[in-house]
Amino acid sequence: MKLFVYGIREYDELPYFSQLARGYGLTFGYTTEYPSMENVHLAAGYPAISIITNRMDAALMDAFYRAGVRHIATRSVGTDHIDLDHARETGMHVSHVNYPPETVADYAIMLILMSLRKITYILDRARLQDFSLQGKLGRDLCDCTVGVVGTGQIGRAVVCHLAGFGCRLYACDPCPDEELSEIVTYTDFETLLGKCDVITLHAPATKENFHLLDKDAFSMIRPGAVIVNTARGTLINTKALIAALEDGRVGAAALDVLEDENGLYFLNRMGDCLANPQMALLRSFPNVILSPHTAFYTDKVVWVMAEQTVRCICDCVYGVENPLVLF
Ligand code: COI
Repeated sequence: MKLFVYGIREYDELPYFSQLARGYGLTFGYTTEYPSMENVHLAAGYPAISIITNRMDAALMDAFYRAGVRHIATRSVGTDHIDLDHARETGMHVSHVNYPPETVADYAIMLILMSLRKITYILDRARLQDFSLQGKLGRDLCDCTVGVVGTGQIGRAVVCHLAGFGCRLYACDPCPDEELSEIVTYTDFETLLGKCDVITLHAPATKENFHLLDKDAFSMIRPGAVIVNTARGTLINTKALIAALEDGRVGAAALDVLEDENGLYFLNRMGDCLANPQMALLRSFPNVILSPHTAFYTDKVVWVMAEQTVRCICDCVYGVENPLVLF
């Protein structure tokens, strides 16, 4: 069994892949670079590659196909960076991972609390020895109404964990989860926008969800609402969010993902002039928290990502049914 890993992090993923290679009898090659036309040749002789969330469009996929690759395994839950239709047409297997949802769910709850208690602003000012209280007044989560957009695995964990905080909970999802009906009230998206002090996004990046929070949506939200996004950047129209923050309609935003995060997040760009004015603007706001797509990043999840990747390759080779192998 052979696998070539792109974008490997030598400081955490490499030891795990080495351990798995011994256990599974796997031969693996790797590079820290993300896949591109320039480095497709590295995968020659490897029928499977592993990637993270960098774009895998039709042209790049074809180049890998020509190099002999027949399986693309993404070390992520989301597959929106892969042209799945093209993969299906060309006969390329695609698999993904499914790590425990609590990791991202708890990070989202951390961002909710950080926003409600203005903690980054408090710490920034404390660093300058401003220990006064003015401007630092927070809000209690137990007094808030929280709207969870999307109750798949992560949204469900958010609902279950938030139930312990005593806040009122609303949710929307095209397929409501009956089991949650005791702790959450399902409603439509527009009603949720109008009712909630906090809105946390847990929906996939589909065509239907593109810019789910746009100018119209922001005009419907409760004034001063907190927006949290640990799902995908494309769910929010960043320009509309900036306008809503500027006019005070949105009280705070905590974003672990951003539109146009590719080429920034997961890379050390220290000292570079970044061509991303929207990000620069958001970073300048005292009521905005930006984290670089780290909601998933715990020791357990990194291990699970590597383990499930290798397991998918193995199951595909031996014809073992595995729901993480999409086709
Ligand atoms: C996912 O698993 O879909 C994520 O968003 C985390 C990924 C960037 C590693």
